[in-house]
Amino acid sequence: MNEIIEKIRNEFLQESKSLKSLQDLEQFRVKFLGRKGLISSAFDRMGEIPKEERPLFGKALNELKKELENRYQTLLHSFKQSDEKKQHPDLTLPGRMPFAGGRHPLLKVADEIKDIFRSLGFSIEDGPEIENDFYNFEALNIPKTHPARDMQDTLYITEDILLRTHTSPVQIRVMQRQKPPIQMIAPGRVYRRDTPDASHSPFFHQVEGLVVDKGITFADLKGVIQAFAHRMFGKDIQVRFRPSFFPFTEPSAEYDFTCVFCGGKGCRVCKNTGWMEISGAGMVHPNVFKAAGVDPEKYTGYAFGMGIDRIAMIKYGIDDIRIFFENDIRFLNQF
Ligand code: PHE
Repeated sequence: MNEIIEKIRNEFLQESKSLKSLQDLEQFRVKFLGRKGLISSAFDRMGEIPKEERPLFGKALNELKKELENRYQTLLHSFKQSDEKKQHPDLTLPGRMPFAGGRHPLLKVADEIKDIFRSLGFSIEDGPEIENDFYNFEALNIPKTHPARDMQDTLYITEDILLRTHTSPVQIRVMQRQKPPIQMIAPGRVYRRDTPDASHSPFFHQVEGLVVDKGITFADLKGVIQAFAHRMFGKDIQVRFRPSFFPFTEPSAEYDFTCVFCGGKGCRVCKNTGWMEISGAGMVHPNVFKAAGVDPEKYTGYAFGMGIDRIAMIKYGIDDIRIFFENDIRFLNQF
């Protein structure tokens, strides 16, 4: 007698654990508590029980029925509640942040550089990364024999078409399409046949600067570079110009900022010089003006370059340029 009761009870408890939905629960109810369910059919088997045991069996079965009905109501209640939650989510719960990407550090630095020059009155210009010999070399007064044209440095596509080795060709394109006064920068990617190491990558990023007007002098160039250095790295930064040579500027210089890591005292990063090389600059060579259709008797101008990757490395204290291009999410997530 007790076996029948216990069997139904155990089965009920066991199956109640695997219920997943309100539909499951309804089938479950029909199976145990329905009109043809297990409880009803147990009542129907009353005749098989010896007469004297029937009252006790009936009582136990009634108690089981009540217990299972209670348990069923509890289950029904909790299923209804979770169903309600699905339809009416709790809007006061804190949100879960989806994974969001971030700006690449080079783009962030490029944006900062653009903002600084924009505020100084410069326009932002653009030119193609696939250039021809005229814009990348010829118009910039770089003779056929110049070492930069060597297959070692330049990535040629054909004899005449190449990946630009610097952003200076944008100078020519802008002077061809716009009359002076010109005051522009042109950020972009450049390519060189370098073997990658901590300070070399076969592509990197430059900002070209060009200012052309009547009466522009080297002092204007120095003032603008100085203003840029202060805005980018703070008022303590000093700038120095060293005589140098570029075919497209005369006179030419290379310029350095005081090392931001040691403040100019000398450290490992600046190889104990106290200075960080930034790039080259100078007064636009008359031959460049002529190639671009600007009258060198009327106008003067200055041009400068700037390495975006270099500036980003200095700003964030990164000692290996390759890390910018590895797309390592652990690195990129920090910006
Ligand atoms: N184009 C030069 C370079 O790639 C930099 C430069 C730009 C120098 C403008 C002078 C004037 O190194």
